[in-house]
Amino acid sequence: MSLKRKTRELVERREQVLQGGGEKAVKKQLAMGKKTARERIISILDEQSFHEYDLFARHEGRDFDMDKKELPGDGVITGTGKIYGAPVCIFAQDFTVAGGSLGLTHARKITKIMDHALKMKVPLIGINDSGGARVQEGVNSLAGYGEIFYRNTLASGVIPQISVILGPCAGGAVYSPALTDFVFVVDKISKMFITGPEVIKTVLGEEISMEELGGARVHSETTGNAHFYAESEAECFEQIKSLVSYIPWNNKLKARALRPRNPKNAFKIEDIVPSDPKQPYDVRDVIRSVTDSSDFFEVQELFAANIVIGFGRINGNSVGFIANQPLVLAGVLDVDSSDKAARFIRFCDAFNIPIITLVDLPGYLPGVDQEHQGVIRHGAKVLYAYSEATVPKITVILRKAYGGGYIAMNSRHLNADFVFAWPAAEIAVMGPEGAANIIFRKEISTAEDPEKVRRQKIKEYKQKFANPYVAASRGYVDAVIEPEETRKFLIHGLDVSEYKDAPTPDRKHGSIPL
Ligand code: HXC
Repeated sequence: MSLKRKTRELVERREQVLQGGGEKAVKKQLAMGKKTARERIISILDEQSFHEYDLFARHEGRDFDMDKKELPGDGVITGTGKIYGAPVCIFAQDFTVAGGSLGLTHARKITKIMDHALKMKVPLIGINDSGGARVQEGVNSLAGYGEIFYRNTLASGVIPQISVILGPCAGGAVYSPALTDFVFVVDKISKMFITGPEVIKTVLGEEISMEELGGARVHSETTGNAHFYAESEAECFEQIKSLVSYIPWNNKLKARALRPRNPKNAFKIEDIVPSDPKQPYDVRDVIRSVTDSSDFFEVQELFAANIVIGFGRINGNSVGFIANQPLVLAGVLDVDSSDKAARFIRFCDAFNIPIITLVDLPGYLPGVDQEHQGVIRHGAKVLYAYSEATVPKITVILRKAYGGGYIAMNSRHLNADFVFAWPAAEIAVMGPEGAANIIFRKEISTAEDPEKVRRQKIKEYKQKFANPYVAASRGYVDAVIEPEETRKFLIHGLDVSEYKDAPTPDRKHGSIPL
């Protein structure tokens, strides 16, 4: 056979596989508002950059008549491509082929592209749309999952791992996304759960819809399993591209710098924070007042909103922000916000992204609920994550910094590189009201006019301690700065930290309280 004929044969073979699960299955997929697996990959990657591998992989199923079934690509598409010029490895499960179920070959295609990503040191993107372990392949499917989980763990902290849930992700299959750095979900399309509604009904007699149990909203707001929520697949793909633009390809590199840009005039830093410490404001506006083009790419926006985390750029370079949000629960630290902050700090630290912390909080959330949910254990994660992080760490105390909250939010004592405070910052063991009530309890209760004495004592305490100058006199704060100077101090702080080299103890790894 001539090369021309052989080439024609290749084209025909290829075309056959590219049909996926066939017209009917593809129609069903599209009718659900979903794109096909290949369309998804192509939508995420730079034009013409996708290169597919293992197109002709054959499945191993022999039982239950599986040997008579053609399963094109074995229900998963794998390859490499680029996002804004950055190389990535990618796989997408194809629900049109046996429900995207995971058999041995399917799993091997995934582990092969994972190995490739780890070897080439480039980000891995996995699109999940699958009925889970392929029932007909029994333990081989379970083996496949285990080998994926193992690689997710090996790759953690070496290459960024991104999971996109665009269909069912059921049973133990959820643990691959759970092991990765970022999980993207789409309204009405993503479904993630360990035991489905039918099992719950049978075992517990409780009725719940799939959406209520493990839909996109639930995982974005309640469980915290998802980091990015989108209304449509198209929006989700834009989010993925944005994320990739902020992070490096691997843990040996820095994120690519862009041309520096000034913040927009609309965000005037001095107008955002009210001087009354009880007045709320949106800390994201403070972030936007210091970032290039006032861009802020928020992570886990809908979960534990009392803390804000996300990426921005300062003078062209990627940074991670962690900021208390006075708009929600006065910005307290609690179980969920501690988990959220700690994980983000560790991602930034693993991938050479400097951390900027904006502080305005009354402390940890009090209450039996929090105590019993383990606020001690969860809160400890924040202390641990900040203390172990060796990337440049800069803190700006905007207003309140009380008690344990002051220490936890990247204080000098946890080895922050720079701590700046605005002139209205109140750095103290607790708020003036509480402090005066404790220290002057006797004087207040025995006074002729207790209310008057209380007000006096609160004022006294405020003047003496509720300011940044006591901390500044001890060197716990490096500079008390005018709000308008914040960006300038951040740029300079990052600039001089460029070659920061912080030694770490000789150990295999620490044991973070989990
Ligand atoms: C084999 C599967 C499959 C599976 C779906 N299919 N899931 N084949 N193994 N796990 C096949 C269906 O038989 C069907 O084939 C085609 O995919 C499309 O599925 P439908 O059911 O028609 O689609 P839909 O109505 O959209 O329902 C989707 C679904 C449902 C909700 C995901 O298919 C389902 O409940 N599947 C089983 C889910 C499950 O229990 N998985 C195992 C979880 S345990 P035909 O030929 O008819 O088109 C697990 C353990 C992992 O995953 C442990 C790791 C540690």
